Amino acid sequence: MVGDSHGDENLGSVLNHVLLHQTVIGLETKQQLQAVGEKPDYIVGGVGGGSNFAGLMLPFLPLKFAGEDMTFIAAEPKACPSLIRGTYRYDFGDISKTNALKQPGCFRIRRAFFLPPAPETSHAIRSAIEVAGKARPGSSIVFLYSGHGLLDLSSYEAYFQGHLEDYELPQEVIDQALASCPEYG
Ligand SMILES: Cc1ncc(COP(=O)(O)O)c(C=O)c1O
Repeated sequence: MVGDSHGDENLGSVLNHVLLHQTVIGLETKQQLQAVGEKPDYIVGGVGGGSNFAGLMLPFLPLKFAGEDMTFIAAEPKACPSLIRGTYRYDFGDISKTNALKQPGCFRIRRAFFLPPAPETSHAIRSAIEVAGKARPGSSIVFLYSGHGLLDLSSYEAYFQGHLEDYELPQEVIDQALASCPEYG
């Protein structure tokens, strides 16, 4: 498990230079794994704008291109997906269309941590747990703990009171958003 300093930026998380800064996470993770003689089989991160996942994963890409067997998994909420729904246009990044998760299942894993993870982080954790259930024994799974959820306690309160909606973004809302989205190219 590795951690970053998420939460101090909002729009910033989708900007290129933020992505570049976040690669320090992947670089450090690489060194930490080397120090313990491990090679990741799976690299898992939560995705909103994409910066923490890309920052973790990009430094490992050259190894993958060189033929290492490594799987990258981007986990995002079904409530507000930025990768797997919509149409392929500028700002729509995932061509493999995997791995969106519903919120309540992600909030459930909060119990494993002393501090509650941020909702975005809980998607990465939940996804890593799912990968662990399917991976061959002995696999190394790296996931990114992108931030704590101390600013999200009202969502946890809603979850524990059974009020957290099992929400999936309706297609009409996506269609509406796409109608006002400019076409590029
Ligand atoms: C703690 C935390 N993790 C992850 C994200 C997702 O952003 P990104 O995909 O750009 O890392 C956010 C966005 O607000 C966040 O606050």
